[in-house]
Amino acid sequence: MEIIAHRGVSSLAPENTMAAFVKCLDLGVQWFEFDVQLLGDASLVVMHDDTADRTTNGTGQLQDMSFDEARRLDAGLWFGPEYRFERIPELTTVVDLLNTTALCANLEVKYTQNPQLRDSLVEAVSRIASGVKDQSKLLISSFDPTVLSRMQDFATAFLVEARTVRADFHGVVQRALDLGCVAIHPEEDSVGPAQVQAWHDAGLKVNVWTVNDKARAQEFYDMGVDGLITDRPQDFLSLDTN
Ligand code: G3P
Ligand code: MG
Repeated sequence: MEIIAHRGVSSLAPENTMAAFVKCLDLGVQWFEFDVQLLGDASLVVMHDDTADRTTNGTGQLQDMSFDEARRLDAGLWFGPEYRFERIPELTTVVDLLNTTALCANLEVKYTQNPQLRDSLVEAVSRIASGVKDQSKLLISSFDPTVLSRMQDFATAFLVEARTVRADFHGVVQRALDLGCVAIHPEEDSVGPAQVQAWHDAGLKVNVWTVNDKARAQEFYDMGVDGLITDRPQDFLSLDTN
């Protein structure tokens, strides 16, 4: 079972920063998940929220910022003084990390209501992500089926909330297959042995988010899930996998 560090090792370092990704190397964790957002000047940066407020010392919509402005923000101080001066990474820096280490990544493309923004996001992600030399090290996920339908050159995963799985289980499976996804990424409280079996029968890998409890992680391992997306990979290195 793969352990996938959510936003990097986000319990030990500021989420979605190079420090959080490099922490994977310290722990011996091969995979990390991260999110990307587009700035006003079409630069693609690594950030979960669409504003700078929560995870930097700045404020405001990313869509109103240039890269030069975003790069001046401190993305680590909010987490702890030892991470002062951590910057918002560019996607190209993460691509460099994948090309120069054994690390692998799950890139999440956030949902947006704005079709023009979505077009620009898909174009920028496709262009930059194609720079990953070994594409087996990259998995692109999204809640947005339109985004996934335009990412056919990449391995993709369909992200689904628990309420969506519960409302239309078979529809979700069919949609993932129609989109050519290799994996489904369900929210943890929609996942049990029957669901895992059905997803596997459909040929989909199953990576569950966001699992932070070790006993729960053991249950998912015993169900045969393929991966766990977690803020706390350091707690899962001693799971009973015999
Ligand atoms: O990819 C799993 C998880 O990251 C999806 O939700 O909001 O943490 O990006 P969020
Ligand atoms: Mg995410």
